Amino acid sequence: MQEKILVIGACGQIGVELTATLRKKYGSENIIASDVREENALLVGTGPFVILDAMNKGTIQTLIKKEKITIVYLLAALLSATGEKNPKLCWELNMESLQNVLDIGVEEKLKIFWPSSIAVFGTTTPRENTPQKTVIEPTTMYGVTKYAGELLCQYYKKRFGLDVRSVRYPGLISWKSEPGGGTTDYAVDIFYGAIREGKYTSFLSENTYLPMMYMDDAIRATLELMTAPKEKLKNSLAYNLSAISFSPKEIAEAIKKRIPNFEISYEPDFHQPIADSWPKSIDDSVARADWGWHHEYDLEKMVSVMLENLKMKLVK
Ligand code: SER
Repeated sequence: MQEKILVIGACGQIGVELTATLRKKYGSENIIASDVREENALLVGTGPFVILDAMNKGTIQTLIKKEKITIVYLLAALLSATGEKNPKLCWELNMESLQNVLDIGVEEKLKIFWPSSIAVFGTTTPRENTPQKTVIEPTTMYGVTKYAGELLCQYYKKRFGLDVRSVRYPGLISWKSEPGGGTTDYAVDIFYGAIREGKYTSFLSENTYLPMMYMDDAIRATLELMTAPKEKLKNSLAYNLSAISFSPKEIAEAIKKRIPNFEISYEPDFHQPIADSWPKSIDDSVARADWGWHHEYDLEKMVSVMLENLKMKLVK
Protein backbone atom coordinates (compact mmCIF):
# COMPACT_ATOMS: atom_id res chain seq x y z
CA MET A 1 0.00 0.00 0.00
CA GLN A 2 1.24 3.48 -0.85
CA GLU A 3 1.57 5.43 2.39
CA LYS A 4 0.32 9.01 2.44
CA ILE A 5 1.84 11.06 5.22
CA LEU A 6 0.92 14.28 7.04
CA VAL A 7 3.61 16.11 9.03
CA ILE A 8 2.12 18.55 11.54
CA GLY A 9 4.69 21.12 12.70
CA ALA A 10 6.80 20.63 9.57
CA CYS A 11 8.57 23.99 9.87
CA GLY A 12 10.25 23.27 13.19
CA GLN A 13 13.75 21.93 13.82
CA ILE A 14 12.79 18.26 13.39
CA GLY A 15 9.95 18.82 10.93
CA VAL A 16 12.04 20.38 8.17
CA GLU A 17 14.54 17.52 8.07
CA LEU A 18 11.98 14.78 8.65
CA THR A 19 9.82 16.10 5.80
CA ALA A 20 12.81 16.16 3.42
CA THR A 21 13.78 12.58 4.33
CA LEU A 22 10.21 11.29 4.03
CA ARG A 23 9.88 12.96 0.61
CA LYS A 24 12.98 11.14 -0.60
CA LYS A 25 11.73 7.82 0.75
CA TYR A 26 8.04 7.91 -0.22
CA GLY A 27 7.92 10.48 -3.05
CA SER A 28 7.31 14.23 -2.61
CA GLU A 29 3.63 14.18 -3.57
CA ASN A 30 2.89 11.64 -0.80
CA ILE A 31 4.15 13.87 2.01
CA ILE A 32 1.97 16.80 3.04
CA ALA A 33 3.88 19.27 5.18
CA SER A 34 1.85 21.54 7.46
CA ASP A 35 2.45 24.21 10.05
CA VAL A 36 0.69 27.15 11.64
CA ARG A 37 3.68 29.25 10.50
CA GLU A 38 4.49 30.19 6.93
CA GLU A 39 6.37 27.61 4.92
CA ASN A 40 10.02 27.21 5.90
CA ALA A 41 12.33 28.36 3.07
CA LEU A 42 13.98 24.92 3.00
CA LEU A 43 10.64 23.28 2.20
CA VAL A 44 9.48 25.71 -0.50
CA GLY A 45 9.15 23.97 -3.85
CA THR A 46 9.85 20.48 -2.47
CA GLY A 47 6.23 19.27 -2.18
CA PRO A 48 2.74 20.07 -0.90
CA PHE A 49 2.40 22.47 2.05
CA VAL A 50 -0.70 23.66 3.94
CA ILE A 51 -1.22 26.08 6.80
CA LEU A 52 -2.76 24.05 9.64
CA ASP A 53 -3.49 24.76 13.31
CA ALA A 54 -2.73 21.64 15.38
CA MET A 55 -5.41 22.69 17.86
CA ASN A 56 -8.17 22.67 15.24
CA LYS A 57 -9.43 19.09 15.08
CA GLY A 58 -12.01 19.77 12.37
CA THR A 59 -9.59 21.11 9.79
CA ILE A 60 -7.03 18.37 10.50
CA GLN A 61 -9.63 15.64 10.08
CA THR A 62 -11.02 17.15 6.87
CA LEU A 63 -7.51 17.27 5.39
CA ILE A 64 -6.75 13.69 6.47
CA LYS A 65 -9.96 12.40 4.86
CA LYS A 66 -9.52 14.43 1.68
CA GLU A 67 -5.89 13.39 1.18
CA LYS A 68 -6.44 9.78 2.35
CA ILE A 69 -3.63 10.11 4.90
CA THR A 70 -2.37 6.86 6.48
CA ILE A 71 0.42 8.14 8.79
CA VAL A 72 0.70 11.32 10.88
CA TYR A 73 3.84 12.75 12.46
CA LEU A 74 2.71 15.25 15.10
CA LEU A 75 5.64 17.54 15.88
CA ALA A 76 3.89 20.78 16.88
CA ALA A 77 4.81 21.70 20.46
CA LEU A 78 6.10 24.36 22.81
CA LEU A 79 9.49 23.32 24.22
CA SER A 80 10.93 23.51 27.74
CA ALA A 81 12.18 27.10 27.99
CA THR A 82 9.23 28.66 26.13
CA GLY A 83 6.91 26.41 28.13
CA GLU A 84 8.19 27.87 31.41
CA LYS A 85 7.41 31.35 30.11
CA ASN A 86 3.88 30.33 29.14
CA PRO A 87 2.89 27.12 30.98
CA LYS A 88 -0.81 27.41 30.16
CA LEU A 89 -0.25 27.65 26.42
CA CYS A 90 2.31 24.85 26.65
CA TRP A 91 -0.27 22.52 28.24
CA GLU A 92 -3.02 23.56 25.84
CA LEU A 93 -1.01 23.26 22.62
CA ASN A 94 0.91 20.10 23.52
CA MET A 95 -2.06 18.17 24.96
CA GLU A 96 -4.88 19.38 22.71
CA SER A 97 -2.95 18.71 19.53
CA LEU A 98 -2.08 15.22 20.73
CA GLN A 99 -5.60 14.32 21.79
CA ASN A 100 -6.96 15.64 18.48
CA VAL A 101 -4.59 13.47 16.49
CA LEU A 102 -5.16 10.40 18.69
CA ASP A 103 -8.95 10.72 18.32
CA ILE A 104 -8.68 11.17 14.55
CA GLY A 105 -6.21 8.26 14.52
CA VAL A 106 -8.82 5.93 16.00
CA GLU A 107 -11.55 7.15 13.62
CA GLU A 108 -9.40 7.10 10.47
CA LYS A 109 -7.20 4.12 11.44
CA LEU A 110 -3.92 6.02 11.25
CA LYS A 111 -0.41 5.15 12.33
CA ILE A 112 0.99 7.98 14.46
CA PHE A 113 4.38 9.26 15.57
CA TRP A 114 4.54 11.66 18.48
CA PRO A 115 7.83 12.70 20.12
CA SER A 116 8.45 12.56 23.84
CA SER A 117 11.60 13.91 25.49
CA ILE A 118 14.24 13.49 28.17
CA ALA A 119 12.22 16.28 29.83
CA VAL A 120 9.87 13.65 31.27
CA PHE A 121 12.57 12.96 33.86
CA GLY A 122 12.91 15.11 36.97
CA THR A 123 15.12 15.57 40.01
CA THR A 124 13.99 12.30 41.62
CA THR A 125 15.14 10.22 38.61
CA PRO A 126 18.61 8.59 38.66
CA ARG A 127 20.69 11.03 36.57
CA GLU A 128 23.29 8.73 35.07
CA ASN A 129 22.32 6.03 32.59
CA THR A 130 18.69 6.74 33.32
CA PRO A 131 16.79 3.47 32.79
CA GLN A 132 13.76 2.98 30.56
CA LYS A 133 11.55 2.29 33.57
CA THR A 134 12.26 4.58 36.50
CA VAL A 135 10.81 7.27 38.74
CA ILE A 136 9.21 9.92 36.51
CA GLU A 137 8.32 13.25 38.13
CA PRO A 138 8.93 16.05 35.63
CA THR A 139 9.40 19.58 36.98
CA THR A 140 8.78 21.64 33.84
CA MET A 141 5.39 22.11 32.18
CA TYR A 142 6.94 20.76 28.97
CA GLY A 143 7.99 17.60 30.83
CA VAL A 144 4.54 17.32 32.38
CA THR A 145 2.91 17.45 28.92
CA LYS A 146 5.38 14.90 27.55
CA TYR A 147 4.75 12.40 30.35
CA ALA A 148 0.98 12.97 30.30
CA GLY A 149 1.19 12.52 26.52
CA GLU A 150 3.05 9.23 26.87
CA LEU A 151 0.35 7.95 29.21
CA LEU A 152 -2.37 9.17 26.84
CA CYS A 153 -0.71 7.36 23.91
CA GLN A 154 -0.43 4.21 26.01
CA TYR A 155 -4.11 4.47 26.90
CA TYR A 156 -5.21 4.83 23.25
CA LYS A 157 -2.96 1.95 22.29
CA LYS A 158 -4.42 -0.38 24.91
CA ARG A 159 -8.02 0.81 24.81
CA PHE A 160 -8.47 1.34 21.05
CA GLY A 161 -5.61 -0.66 19.51
CA LEU A 162 -4.15 2.55 18.00
CA ASP A 163 -0.66 2.19 16.51
CA VAL A 164 1.09 5.18 18.08
CA ARG A 165 4.86 5.18 18.49
CA SER A 166 7.19 7.46 20.42
CA VAL A 167 10.76 8.13 21.53
CA ARG A 168 12.23 10.32 24.26
CA TYR A 169 14.47 12.52 22.11
CA PRO A 170 17.56 13.99 23.74
CA GLY A 171 18.73 17.48 22.68
CA LEU A 172 18.90 17.52 18.88
CA ILE A 173 21.74 19.17 16.98
CA SER A 174 21.35 20.23 13.36
CA TRP A 175 22.66 22.82 10.93
CA LYS A 176 19.81 22.97 8.40
CA SER A 177 16.98 24.23 10.60
CA GLU A 178 17.34 26.03 13.90
CA PRO A 179 15.80 24.94 17.20
CA GLY A 180 13.66 27.30 19.24
CA GLY A 181 12.73 27.57 22.90
CA GLY A 182 14.61 24.55 24.25
CA THR A 183 17.16 24.13 27.03
CA THR A 184 19.48 22.06 24.86
CA ASP A 185 19.54 24.78 22.15
CA TYR A 186 22.91 26.08 23.40
CA ALA A 187 24.54 23.07 21.70
CA VAL A 188 23.39 24.46 18.33
CA ASP A 189 23.77 28.20 19.11
CA ILE A 190 27.41 27.62 20.08
CA PHE A 191 28.30 26.76 16.46
CA TYR A 192 26.72 29.97 15.16
CA GLY A 193 28.71 31.93 17.78
CA ALA A 194 31.92 30.11 16.91
CA ILE A 195 31.63 30.77 13.17
CA ARG A 196 30.23 34.30 13.27
CA GLU A 197 32.15 35.80 16.21
CA GLY A 198 34.69 33.24 17.42
CA LYS A 199 33.03 33.25 20.84
CA TYR A 200 29.92 32.15 22.69
CA THR A 201 28.30 32.78 26.07
CA SER A 202 26.62 29.64 27.35
CA PHE A 203 23.39 29.91 29.33
CA LEU A 204 24.35 26.65 31.09
CA SER A 205 27.32 26.22 33.42
CA GLU A 206 30.49 24.53 32.14
CA ASN A 207 29.93 21.09 33.68
CA THR A 208 26.24 20.67 32.86
CA TYR A 209 26.06 17.31 31.09
CA LEU A 210 23.01 16.59 28.96
CA PRO A 211 22.05 13.79 26.53
CA MET A 212 22.32 14.96 22.90
CA MET A 213 22.06 13.56 19.37
CA TYR A 214 22.93 14.65 15.84
CA MET A 215 19.81 15.18 13.72
CA ASP A 216 20.64 12.49 11.12
CA ASP A 217 20.64 9.89 13.89
CA ALA A 218 17.35 11.23 15.23
CA ILE A 219 15.62 11.10 11.84
CA ARG A 220 16.93 7.61 11.16
CA ALA A 221 15.74 6.48 14.62
CA THR A 222 12.30 7.90 13.91
CA LEU A 223 11.93 6.13 10.56
CA GLU A 224 13.33 2.87 11.92
CA LEU A 225 10.87 2.92 14.78
CA MET A 226 7.98 3.72 12.43
CA THR A 227 8.84 0.87 10.05
CA ALA A 228 9.68 -1.72 12.73
CA PRO A 229 7.27 -4.68 12.95
CA LYS A 230 4.61 -3.88 15.55
CA GLU A 231 5.12 -7.15 17.45
CA LYS A 232 8.74 -6.21 18.20
CA LEU A 233 7.73 -3.07 20.07
CA LYS A 234 7.09 -4.47 23.52
CA ASN A 235 7.70 -1.26 25.43
CA SER A 236 4.39 0.58 25.76
CA LEU A 237 5.63 4.07 26.73
CA ALA A 238 8.09 6.14 24.66
CA TYR A 239 11.51 4.59 24.10
CA ASN A 240 14.63 6.03 25.74
CA LEU A 241 17.00 7.05 22.96
CA SER A 242 20.60 8.04 23.41
CA ALA A 243 23.73 8.92 21.47
CA ILE A 244 26.14 11.48 23.00
CA SER A 245 26.46 13.09 26.41
CA PHE A 246 28.63 16.19 26.89
CA SER A 247 28.93 19.46 28.81
CA PRO A 248 29.34 23.01 27.41
CA LYS A 249 33.04 22.78 28.33
CA GLU A 250 33.50 19.55 26.37
CA ILE A 251 31.75 20.75 23.21
CA ALA A 252 33.73 24.01 23.43
CA GLU A 253 36.98 21.99 23.57
CA ALA A 254 35.92 19.99 20.51
CA ILE A 255 35.20 23.27 18.64
CA LYS A 256 38.54 24.77 19.78
CA LYS A 257 40.38 21.87 18.13
CA ARG A 258 38.99 23.10 14.83
CA ILE A 259 38.74 26.86 15.56
CA PRO A 260 41.72 27.52 17.87
CA ASN A 261 40.71 31.11 18.75
CA PHE A 262 37.24 30.11 19.90
CA GLU A 263 36.36 31.36 23.38
CA ILE A 264 33.52 30.30 25.64
CA SER A 265 32.15 32.06 28.71
CA TYR A 266 29.35 31.03 31.05
CA GLU A 267 26.35 32.99 32.27
CA PRO A 268 23.84 30.46 33.59
CA ASP A 269 20.27 31.78 33.59
CA PHE A 270 16.74 30.37 33.99
CA HIS A 271 17.70 27.44 31.73
CA GLN A 272 20.10 26.09 34.39
CA PRO A 273 17.54 24.64 36.84
CA ILE A 274 15.72 23.01 33.89
CA ALA A 275 18.95 21.33 32.75
CA ASP A 276 19.77 20.36 36.35
CA SER A 277 16.47 18.49 36.59
CA TRP A 278 17.26 16.31 33.53
CA PRO A 279 19.49 13.24 33.19
CA LYS A 280 23.16 13.48 32.26
CA SER A 281 23.03 10.29 30.22
CA ILE A 282 20.39 7.79 29.13
CA ASP A 283 20.24 3.98 29.03
CA ASP A 284 18.54 3.10 25.75
CA SER A 285 19.20 -0.65 25.79
CA VAL A 286 15.48 -1.41 25.41
CA ALA A 287 15.32 0.47 22.07
CA ARG A 288 18.52 -1.24 20.96
CA ALA A 289 17.07 -4.67 21.82
CA ASP A 290 13.50 -4.15 20.54
CA TRP A 291 14.13 -2.48 17.14
CA GLY A 292 17.88 -2.49 16.69
CA TRP A 293 18.54 1.19 17.38
CA HIS A 294 22.18 2.34 17.26
CA HIS A 295 23.71 5.81 16.91
CA GLU A 296 26.38 6.76 14.38
CA TYR A 297 27.52 10.23 15.44
CA ASP A 298 29.80 10.76 18.45
CA LEU A 299 30.91 14.20 19.69
CA GLU A 300 33.90 14.57 17.32
CA LYS A 301 32.02 13.47 14.21
CA MET A 302 29.06 15.69 15.05
CA VAL A 303 31.24 18.77 15.67
CA SER A 304 33.11 18.25 12.37
CA VAL A 305 29.91 17.91 10.34
CA MET A 306 28.28 20.89 12.05
CA LEU A 307 31.25 23.20 11.46
CA GLU A 308 31.80 22.14 7.85
CA ASN A 309 28.17 22.61 6.86
CA LEU A 310 27.42 25.73 8.89
CA LYS A 311 30.52 27.45 7.54
CA MET A 312 29.25 26.87 4.02
CA LYS A 313 25.78 28.06 5.00
CA LEU A 314 26.86 31.20 6.90
CA VAL A 315 30.03 32.35 5.14
CA LYS A 316 28.77 33.19 1.67
N1 SER B 1 15.34 19.84 23.37
C1 SER B 1 14.24 19.91 24.29
C2 SER B 1 14.33 21.11 25.13
O1 SER B 1 15.42 21.53 25.42
C3 SER B 1 14.20 18.70 25.15
O2 SER B 1 13.31 17.80 24.60
O3 SER B 1 13.33 21.61 25.54
